[in-house]
Amino acid sequence: MTHHTPKTMGQQFGRRSWAEPWKIKMVERLRMTTREEREKALAEAGLNTFLLKSDEVYIDLLTDSGTSAMSDEQWAGMMLGDEAYAGSRNFYHLEEALRKYYGYKYVVPTHQGRGAEHLISQIAIKKGQYVPGNMYFTTTRLHQELAGGIFVDVILDEAHDPGSLHPFKGNIDLAKLEALIAREGAEKIAYVSLAGTVNMAGGQPVSMENVRELRALCDRHGIKLYLDATRMVENAFFIQEREEGYAKKSIAEILKEFCGFTDGAWMSAKKDNLVNIGGWLAVNDWTLFEELRNLVVVYEGLHTYGGLAGRDMEAMAIGIAESVEDAHIRSRIGQVRYLGELLTDWGIPIVQPVGGHAIFLNAREFYPQLKQVEFPAQTLAAELYLDSGIRSMERGIASAGRDAKTGDHYYPKLELTRLTIPRRVYTQAHMDVVAESVKAVFDARGTTRGLKMIYEPKYLRFFQARFERLAG
Ligand SMILES: Cc1ncc(COP(=O)(O)O)c(C=O)c1O
Repeated sequence: MTHHTPKTMGQQFGRRSWAEPWKIKMVERLRMTTREEREKALAEAGLNTFLLKSDEVYIDLLTDSGTSAMSDEQWAGMMLGDEAYAGSRNFYHLEEALRKYYGYKYVVPTHQGRGAEHLISQIAIKKGQYVPGNMYFTTTRLHQELAGGIFVDVILDEAHDPGSLHPFKGNIDLAKLEALIAREGAEKIAYVSLAGTVNMAGGQPVSMENVRELRALCDRHGIKLYLDATRMVENAFFIQEREEGYAKKSIAEILKEFCGFTDGAWMSAKKDNLVNIGGWLAVNDWTLFEELRNLVVVYEGLHTYGGLAGRDMEAMAIGIAESVEDAHIRSRIGQVRYLGELLTDWGIPIVQPVGGHAIFLNAREFYPQLKQVEFPAQTLAAELYLDSGIRSMERGIASAGRDAKTGDHYYPKLELTRLTIPRRVYTQAHMDVVAESVKAVFDARGTTRGLKMIYEPKYLRFFQARFERLAG
């Protein structure tokens, strides 16, 4: 027998090991399933991982949305919930945290991100106006379209290329934006919709230089700039790591500087802000705030709770402060990167560079035998679940939906399956199990068949669509 010297993870990758800046106080037991049970569960779910019951899932990487583990201090904060209908003290804590860390003046809480998207879209978009953005996000674009807007993708071309190593693939291509303004006129632009770490591009960041230049461009034309701040803290980490002049600045400083270039933001607090439910809108303009504060009463709740319990707002206020700690964000992104390093080393096709919240498997390269209408990324999500009970999510043609005018599918360049890592939930050993399962599915890729959609809901179809395997 040959002698094998065990190595720590850090040693294997030629660096010092890192560890999470927390320890575990309470655990949630996981249920393991047999392949037979998974076959049955997946068939009942119409081969859509969104339709699985969570009890049928072993490691749940469906989303990082609302799946974070809260800290003991956040849980203690829940007990301080002031459930007054109006003027809850927890709202004022939230407002204080947002002003301190994001820097915006006025705050409207909402039940989650899409509640905020709804309000800003209804107020800031006039029918027929364009909404340029750095790639679309499903709910964001839908609310913009429902408000009569026409979304235009003005992200860098590199964002659509899973192999491009551009350090800021989330950047807006300013020339594309200028061309749109020249063609349509500034008055036809509702606002620029800028997302920090672009989810659909693989969690790719925007640079400070890009937002600075974008601000100047918007000012030249009198156009507003609103930020989807959902994963802006993670974006700040990439600026600290990759952009000249930011290595010594804290995440909190970078976050505030970046937000300072924008007129306001909407937020799904279920991500960066480390809560299980919540969202907000924040703006600097009083008149706009008054309109938002009025509309929130119609759809969400009074402007000092916006669809949330007081305890939720308290947990969010504490979560915001925890989320900007450098040690937290380094370990959060470090864990995602660890999984990415393993898969890259094994030659498995993933979007590069590895982004902030997830690993995106390149389903086109897994299954070159499948046409895009055979749902390669959905197929891959189904195969992964069958192999090990790991739940992932499709981010390809099913998520992209249909063109409202032609009725045909959108055919996105990226056909990806997302392994989304919840914050502060899983361990390095879980990541090892995930990596090995992805490898097993990759090794068996040659004989995999595609899917057809047998039920298609009208809105955001990927959530509830049902599929069947194509006959061999
Ligand atoms: C970038 C981005 N924007 C907006 C949203 C919508 O937020 P929510 O799911 O809280 O409604 C999400 C989450 O799904 C997101 O990832």
